[in-house]
Amino acid sequence: MCGIVGYLGREKASDIIIAGLEKLEYRGYDSCGICFYDERAKRFVMYKDKGRVAHLKNDFDYDKCNGLGIGHTRWATHGQPNQLNSHPHFSEGDRFAVVHNGVIENYKELTERYLAGVQFVSETDTEVIANLIARFALQMPAEEAIRKTLSVLEGSYALLVVDTLDPHVLYAAKNKSPLLLGVGKRGVTLASDVMALVGYADQYFPIEDKTFTVVSEKDGVSCFALYDILGHPVETKFMTIDIVLDEIGKGGYSHYMLKEICEQPSVVRKIVSKYLPEDRIQIDPETLSWFKTAERIYVIAAGTSMHAGFVGKYLLENIAGIPVEVFIASEFAYNPPLLVKNPLFVFISQSGETADLRACLVDVKRRGFRTVTITNVPTSTLAREADKFLEIFAGPEIAVASTKAYVGQIVILAILAVALADRPPFDLHKELAKVAVAMEAVIDKREFIHGLVKAKITKRNCFYIGRSLDYFTCLEAALKLKEISYIQTEGFAAGELKHGTIALIEQGVPVVAIISQKAVARHTRGNIREVCARGAEKLVIATQLVSDPTDELILMDVHESLTPLITIIPTQLIAFYAALDIGKDIDKPRNLAKSVTVE
Ligand code: F6R
Repeated sequence: MCGIVGYLGREKASDIIIAGLEKLEYRGYDSCGICFYDERAKRFVMYKDKGRVAHLKNDFDYDKCNGLGIGHTRWATHGQPNQLNSHPHFSEGDRFAVVHNGVIENYKELTERYLAGVQFVSETDTEVIANLIARFALQMPAEEAIRKTLSVLEGSYALLVVDTLDPHVLYAAKNKSPLLLGVGKRGVTLASDVMALVGYADQYFPIEDKTFTVVSEKDGVSCFALYDILGHPVETKFMTIDIVLDEIGKGGYSHYMLKEICEQPSVVRKIVSKYLPEDRIQIDPETLSWFKTAERIYVIAAGTSMHAGFVGKYLLENIAGIPVEVFIASEFAYNPPLLVKNPLFVFISQSGETADLRACLVDVKRRGFRTVTITNVPTSTLAREADKFLEIFAGPEIAVASTKAYVGQIVILAILAVALADRPPFDLHKELAKVAVAMEAVIDKREFIHGLVKAKITKRNCFYIGRSLDYFTCLEAALKLKEISYIQTEGFAAGELKHGTIALIEQGVPVVAIISQKAVARHTRGNIREVCARGAEKLVIATQLVSDPTDELILMDVHESLTPLITIIPTQLIAFYAALDIGKDIDKPRNLAKSVTVE
């Protein structure tokens, strides 16, 4: 949550920072701001406001910006989204300006101990950081004052700091929140995500926790130095940026979400090419052996990724015979179950940054257990900190509502399940090829699905019902619809509805039923009759094998264990068109952010 960008080099810093913030807006978009050095006035200038980066870009003057600046896009944690709480924040007296992603847990204690008498202008924890640096800098050089500040901070932070007395230096530090440093021909860029470096850096590396960075200029060339908290130099290894600008554009689509829904068949094919080249499963043998020898797998995840985890539990238990439990990360962290002696922890996360998951990861690693992360972002914290890492290869996912990363997670879990099975129950390569084709067939029907939405999704509430694997799809389908259209939607195990919630069914309430599992199809149809008898507006999505001529949408058959990959597609399109028709901000729904880096 929150995105930060900083630049020192020979380009106009504002161009790079604003372009970067636009790419990081998925991390938070309540408000944003920038601070840069004004070459002609010989002073730092700051613009910040509530609202989107477009406002920052279009409504202010950057004519005299030079090659140093810092910027921020915010998801509010401390204080409302308003101009005063927007970043950057200055210290009292305006010497230091700071942008911050994270949460300082001991900011109250620090204020009492070190900052008596300071007049704060915002409600943020970040202003405490700026003032601590300023306070310590009364007695020591800026660099030392920042390091001393870091030594007293508790919590998470990715920080960029400028000292207005020196317009040739940019300071950075990080703990828990992500921060990457990219080097290009014309300067050094720091950002929360590699996407903001694309086009400006050829090489980059993720900065390690508790590392302090000084970016400076020597003879017009930007350089950097890394130190640990005690000031000892730290070594690093560069990586090459392998994202091209096209991958992070809308590619002719009206919205990222629609683009990402339509990319799902190629995501399946890409994963197959990575993990099943020439028809043979290629996963690190040690990772597989950990799954095989574990007494129980504990899947830790949140939201959409947790729904993928439920499907994964089904696949691993039914195909590979390995017991799996799925936990909400934020619950597991503080109310853990009684563990088996030899567990394996699997963290599923599209962003790889979710703080709830990280809290669990740190804890179980401390207790000596093995950990595996499945994520779409190879440079993410969870990817780097788990013992093993399986990449999803879905490509950059920019819409806040996750679609292709979810599908990618399930494909990886299916591959794992088949790889771990004593006797593979089906030809995975062939079945996944069918899945990609069946997905394309649904996507081709998107205008028809739009018509169904116009006719049926007309109320302020909605239900998804299904059984067995279809129930998990219902949970995810409901989350998708509610998060982008704000229509109150519940995903229910079809048989559970009549144990209370059916009281909410009245004339015209949409009930979307998903039917793809032969063993339970008849029962779900019974539940549809029950809600229709009470006035519900039904919309049945069924696979061919278990379909009925009265069903509204019939999907191509795929292997019964893989139907969640198909049935989810129309529900993503339902969510998309429902939100479109009522004019919601589909790619950036209110109150949300794509990486949830606070607990
Ligand atoms: C919804 C969505 C979220 C995330 C959840 C966990 O579309 O994407 O529910 O799945 O916030 O985030 P990750 O998967 O990044 O750990």
